[in-house]
Amino acid sequence: MGSASTLNLDEILNNIHNEKIIKDELGNDVILKDNIDREEGMLLERLISVNGLSRSIEVGCAYGISSLYICGAVTKHHGHHTIVDPFQTTDWNNIGITQLRNAGFENFTLLEERSEIALPKLVEQGAKFDFAFIDGWHTFDHTLLDMYYMNRLLCVGGIMVIDDVGMTGVEKAVNYFLNYPSYKFLDGIKVSEVTKERQFFMNFIISPLRIAAKLLPKKISEEIFSDKVSGSGISGYSMVALKKIKEDERPWNWYHNF
Ligand SMILES: C[S@@+](CC[C@H](N)C(=O)[O-])C[C@H]1O[C@@H](n2cnc3c(N)ncnc32)[C@H](O)[C@@H]1O
Repeated sequence: MGSASTLNLDEILNNIHNEKIIKDELGNDVILKDNIDREEGMLLERLISVNGLSRSIEVGCAYGISSLYICGAVTKHHGHHTIVDPFQTTDWNNIGITQLRNAGFENFTLLEERSEIALPKLVEQGAKFDFAFIDGWHTFDHTLLDMYYMNRLLCVGGIMVIDDVGMTGVEKAVNYFLNYPSYKFLDGIKVSEVTKERQFFMNFIISPLRIAAKLLPKKISEEIFSDKVSGSGISGYSMVALKKIKEDERPWNWYHNF
């Protein structure tokens, strides 16, 4: 087992981002991949700190980088962090949890269940949170399911952050949610590197379609074009934060094109 670090959290995170290597519970070096980056972590930290949030929940721990930022921020408000990851022991050899323990955190609970099972159980128990981070299984249906249950778990005034919104399935789920009257876009991190292919796609396909979409009446444009084309989407972001501004009171037959 690794021992608690003598470094403070900023130093620990600095080392992690600079070296891109962390130690597992046996002390072996593990190369980081698919973790949130420094800018994204600082957004999580800032949203929690500025809004004084203390009851956080996260889907997808892996190396524990997002967990470190969230635990660090909620600790300032004597808060507690709930982590949902079914594979932390089996696939990840507890590497995320080891980072948290080594940084001195004890104010977290790990639920080793799939989010589609764990989140409805939390709803049934009446659990409430004011900060939710989603970075688990990135299919459209799974992301939407995570967002659906996070909405049930989130208090009004709470914040839901979704990572990897550059992935089509995740982006579509977020665009659907952005039509909810109870949510508004709050903040986000833009993709730092735009590939040549993407630049070409945006310049020669999406931009002309956007012009066409603007020429049509709004209702017809919404029917024909997705949010990516009509320009109301979150294209170009890697992570977005949505704020729950009121209770979700949509009627049973509510639908909005996305
Ligand atoms: C991209 S990684 C998360 C990276 C992490 N947030 C970080 O910054 O280090 C995705 C994680 O989702 C977890 N995962 C996969 N399927 C899941 C599910 N059904 N429910 C919850 N977590 C899941 C994986 O075990 C993995 O740890």
